[in-house]
Amino acid sequence: MSANTIEINRRMDKFDGHQQVWVFGYGSLIYKADFPYLERRPAHIQGWARRFWQGSHDHRGTPDAPGRVVTIIPQTGAVCHGMAYLIAPEVFEHLDYREKNGYLRVVVDIGMEDGDRGVAEGVVYIAREDNAAYLGAASEEEIAHHIARSAGPSGPNSDYLMQLAISLREMGKHDPHVFAIEQFLVDLINSGEI
Ligand code: SIN
Repeated sequence: MSANTIEINRRMDKFDGHQQVWVFGYGSLIYKADFPYLERRPAHIQGWARRFWQGSHDHRGTPDAPGRVVTIIPQTGAVCHGMAYLIAPEVFEHLDYREKNGYLRVVVDIGMEDGDRGVAEGVVYIAREDNAAYLGAASEEEIAHHIARSAGPSGPNSDYLMQLAISLREMGKHDPHVFAIEQFLVDLINSGEI
């Protein structure tokens, strides 16, 4: 599959005719809402685990030296915490462009964590392992080293990691994978290695 997913995502007709659609964000979409939304609520999806396994050629790295950003992988019993946004369908044009480097829109059940705590069907952007920008598994220490040396048009890769970790902490959510990588990065900085 080509890395640029814009055309594939545009063809999704699941929510055609809807005035509003829920989108679940688990990475930069948690802390960088650079689009209009009608509601923003802490939420989770079940059966998915967050991993820094996706390459970023356009935001936190370059085509020659991609950074590492998050995707989610199916995992029985896992819960991925993030932020749900209620958007007008026109906003997908912006989101499809922003998430074009391998992310596909997938329909999921989103569990809301405030208000009525109900479940709503919505969209999550997932970078599957068959996309051209996929980097796959590495140890959390290796991932921290990779992030430490990467940067792209949206800024240093380390900012992406730190902002995600801060947001999860502010939401009271513990993600062992994200926090372990953050700790390795802090150790690297403190040791003067980077
Ligand atoms: C997301 O945040 O939901 C997708 C991954 C990213 O843009 O960081």
